[in-house]
Amino acid sequence: MTNKPVCIAQISDLHIKRPGALAYGRVDTARALERCVATLNELVPAPDFVVISGDLVDTPTAEEYEHLKRLLAPLRLPFSSIPGNHDSREMMRGAFAGSNYAHPSGPLNQRIEIAGLDLLLLDSSVPGQPHGQLDPSTLEWLDAELASIAERPALLFLHHPPFRAGIWHMDGQNLLNADALGAIVQRHPRIQLVATGHVHRAALTMFAGVLTTICPAPNHAVDLDLAELREPSFKVEPSAFHLHTWFPGERSLVTHQVPIGQFDGPHPFFGPGGKLL
Ligand SMILES: [Fe+2]
Repeated sequence: MTNKPVCIAQISDLHIKRPGALAYGRVDTARALERCVATLNELVPAPDFVVISGDLVDTPTAEEYEHLKRLLAPLRLPFSSIPGNHDSREMMRGAFAGSNYAHPSGPLNQRIEIAGLDLLLLDSSVPGQPHGQLDPSTLEWLDAELASIAERPALLFLHHPPFRAGIWHMDGQNLLNADALGAIVQRHPRIQLVATGHVHRAALTMFAGVLTTICPAPNHAVDLDLAELREPSFKVEPSAFHLHTWFPGERSLVTHQVPIGQFDGPHPFFGPGGKLL
């Protein structure tokens, strides 16, 4: 078996608005996505797939999804997406009509097989609500998909974290039925990762015995207010995304955080003759 890694990029919480509009009157989320797409396109090796883990648009409106599609058009990588609390299931179905959803209506769940990996994209959105919940049909589908093959490594993606990150106003909007997800995760040891978004900043923990991450956003970050000092706030911090790297030989997964933008380098450490520069 080759040990060439399989690279799954995850970007999250794009919050695209109608052209010209700024999020919260301040953040140019469209420009942020353009920079994110440019960084994704420059990665070598090119990621095998990109997952967009929710909050694709902001309000949501059909105009925002049209704007989103125009901004994603330059992306030279295959991608798929799941809804967040700012999305509309119906509008997403319309915008990405070619997607192979598991159900003809309701939650937008998908199983996507990439180079021997199962990507299980779970719709945790609750129409009209900021918190997350997995429908009974989603939990049933997930359990059945995971049971269908014993060995193939699986990565789970959903918008809402199933754990408390310590930011009070976000913790109230987590995945409400995390216990139900945790029970399934524990039943299926082929799950290698639970990858989420929603909080606009990188975090990782163990959940049900599995590495569980929050992906940072290309735009603004939720303020890291662990002391409940402020009203819900955001900061424009360095933007980034995650690159989940699966090594088939070792059956190990490493998540890299990739900063978005152009940076000085790469420069060699060593000159002629291996001399340290
Ligand atoms: Fe969200």
